[in-house]
This record gives sequence, structure tokens and C-alpha cells, in this order.
Amino acid sequence: MKIDRLSGMLSELGCVSDEPGKLTRTFLSPAMRRANRLVGGWMKDAGLAVREDAVGNLIGRIEGSDKKAKTLLLGSHLDTVRDAGRFDGTLGVLLPIVALAELKRRGVTLPFAVEVIGFSEEEGVRFASAYIGSKGYLGLLTAADLKLRDAEGTSVRKAISEWSRGAPAAVVRRNAARAPRPQDLLGYVEVHIEQGPVLEKEKLAVGVVSAIAGQSRFKLTWTGKAGHAGTTPMPLRHDALAGAAEFTIGVEAIARRTPGLVATVGALTVTPGAANVIPGEVVHTLDVRHARDAVRRSALMQLGRLATRIARERGLQRRWQRTQENRAVACSPALTAQLGRSVEAAQGRSLSLVSGAGHDGVVLSSLTPIAMLFVRCHGGLSHHPDEYASPADCGVALRVMVDFLERMAQQHAR
Ligand code: GLV
Ligand code: MN
Ligand code: MN
Repeated sequence: MKIDRLSGMLSELGCVSDEPGKLTRTFLSPAMRRANRLVGGWMKDAGLAVREDAVGNLIGRIEGSDKKAKTLLLGSHLDTVRDAGRFDGTLGVLLPIVALAELKRRGVTLPFAVEVIGFSEEEGVRFASAYIGSKGYLGLLTAADLKLRDAEGTSVRKAISEWSRGAPAAVVRRNAARAPRPQDLLGYVEVHIEQGPVLEKEKLAVGVVSAIAGQSRFKLTWTGKAGHAGTTPMPLRHDALAGAAEFTIGVEAIARRTPGLVATVGALTVTPGAANVIPGEVVHTLDVRHARDAVRRSALMQLGRLATRIARERGLQRRWQRTQENRAVACSPALTAQLGRSVEAAQGRSLSLVSGAGHDGVVLSSLTPIAMLFVRCHGGLSHHPDEYASPADCGVALRVMVDFLERMAQQHAR
């Protein structure tokens, strides 16, 4: 199978970036336009009809021989974190394209239609809120989503309007009108690097996912009082950064003593931001995840109490804005078992894992059964330029996808 082709595509797409010397491709950026053009060309080569929807999702569709049959959705995201690796998201878009090209080469026509989607936003980098692409694809963007602003103050509404050259309300309605209906779908299958160490430890190239952890994200604003760093005595200060720092250490402590909880302050802006001025305002993100929603909710209560105490003791104001909330999502047992059979055929045994990372499947699960295939990545490293999945492991994943599509075809043949 065309594993060299897949590796070449991953390398080429890995150079399509908004920042020189590193891979950064965010929602509706110039690099995303170039990426969609490149991947759209590969989709066309594989025999797919290509369109881009109003929120920048790239969609390639191939009809099945049975016009009444349902549609299988495959895909992942084409946006990246800052200074990203080449595999997160892109593997799940490119691998299905190569699998469909392989079936075409073998002269296999599937009875059902397949739609391969490159979602335009999954990472939550630009607007500190993830899944804008998949929500837009399903016509689920809310008024609150459209009001979110990036670091330059541009709202999601404006970004979409500029990208699609249309009024955003109409654009979002148009997407909603074209969104697939549950009764027309067979399910959604996403291939993704594991982004963790389990497959490597188990010496397996691929595994299936049983569930995706629930996730809450916030933007916190701490307001104190800016002032002269040389003349304001320490007891008289209201230092917003010192408060945010104490909170960050507390976040780490709560996560460390709660089994399975992960919590991260990942981006922070200090204003006015000068060596000789006491920080007057700090805005930072907070990301909290756990496989059990009850544990995540209880941690959020503790974090809320911690922030209140720090604000009171330091004479600060603090404001929370929830930018994202997703409950834990279970993958479909039936679709996952089907994928597991292809995994067993390819590597002898399957393994089931819980995903701590969020995936487009979270949003798709509100519409249709989902399944995920994880691919081993070196050292479990991801969200890092050294992220790596070997061609051999990607080759196993490709064999699994082709086998899965053939088995689905047999099952749905009339
Ligand atoms: C997506 O990569 C996430 O943050 O889980
Ligand atoms: Mn991803
Ligand atoms: Mn990611």
C-alpha cells in the first residue's frame, strides 16, 4: 500500500505554516487556505468531489454504488497548535484519502458514500475554545461561540464573515441547512496519534478508543492595580500576576492529588507588561480534564474556592469565562468492535484505551456513533515539533482502515 505516499503528504502538509521555521496553522489563517487547497487536490486525485464549507472545513465526498445507502464520515482536523508536530489531526485526514485511493486502485466501489472531512478548528488555539470546525460542520455554533474573541480582538463572527465573504448569520444557517442528518449516517471514524505512551508500552502499532475524557476550559482575568515597581511598598500592592501565579501552583496541587485529573494553565498575558510596573491585569487560560465527569466537576468547585480565597487575600478582582465544556464521551461499542476486528486482522490483538486528548469525535458523537483508531507515537510525545509516528505504524493503520472499509462494504452489500 502507498505508505510512502502518505509519508510524503504528511511531510508536505507539515510545511504549510503561518510561522516561518515552525508548524503553526490556526483557524481560518492564510496557511489554512493553502492547506485546504493542497489537501483538496489530493482528495480530487483519490476520486472525491471536494467542497469547502462556510467555516473553512474541507470536505471530500465519494458516492457509493447504492444511492440509498447511508454515508460514513471519516476525518480529523487540519489546524494545529503553535510549533506543532506533523501528525496531530492531519494523519486522520490524509490516511482515509490514501485508503480510498487504494480501494480505487483495486477497483473496489463501496456500496455506501464516504465523506472525508478536514475540520478547520479543533485545537482551540485562536479563540481558546475548541471544536469550532466540527460544530460549524454540524450547524451547532451558538451565539456565544460567535462572540468569542482572539488575541487581536477579532470575533469568531468576523473571522468567519471575512473567510467566507458572507454575512455570518447566513453562513452559519447555510452550514446548518447542509449538515448531515443522523438517519443518513453510518457513523464517524477518526484515526489519530495516541499522544500518550500506552501503545508504545504495550508494543502495539494501533489500538481502539473506548471513551474520550470530559474537558472544561476557561479564560480567567485577574485585576489588581498597576503601579511603580520601585516606589510601591510590598504590603500595599495588588499584583495580578502574583495572584495568577499562586492560583497556577494551586491548580497543579489539586490535579496532583486527584487521581486521573489533569489541569493546565497554558497561556498567560500580563498587562501592562513592563519590568518596572506592577502587573495590573493578567488573563490566562485554564484547561481541566478527567474521564469521569463527576471528578472533573468536583475539581472545578475546588478551583473556584481557591480563586476566591486568593482574590480576597490579595485584594484582587477575578473573573471566569467558560470557553468550553464537554462531557466525557463513550465511543460506540458496535462500531468500535468492528474497527477492533480490523485491528486484530492487522496486528494479532487489539487494545482499548481512554483518550485524555479531545477530538472532533466529541462533537460528532452528538449526531452519530463514533469510533477512533489510535496510532502509536514515539515517546507518547505530541503538541511538540518532535511528534512522530513511524511509517510502519502508519502503514498498519492504513491496512486497518482499508480492511475496515471492506468489511463495512460486505456488511452493507445488498
Ligand atoms: C486537542 O489536542 C486537545 O487539547 O486535547
Ligand atoms: Mn488532534
Ligand atoms: Mn492537538
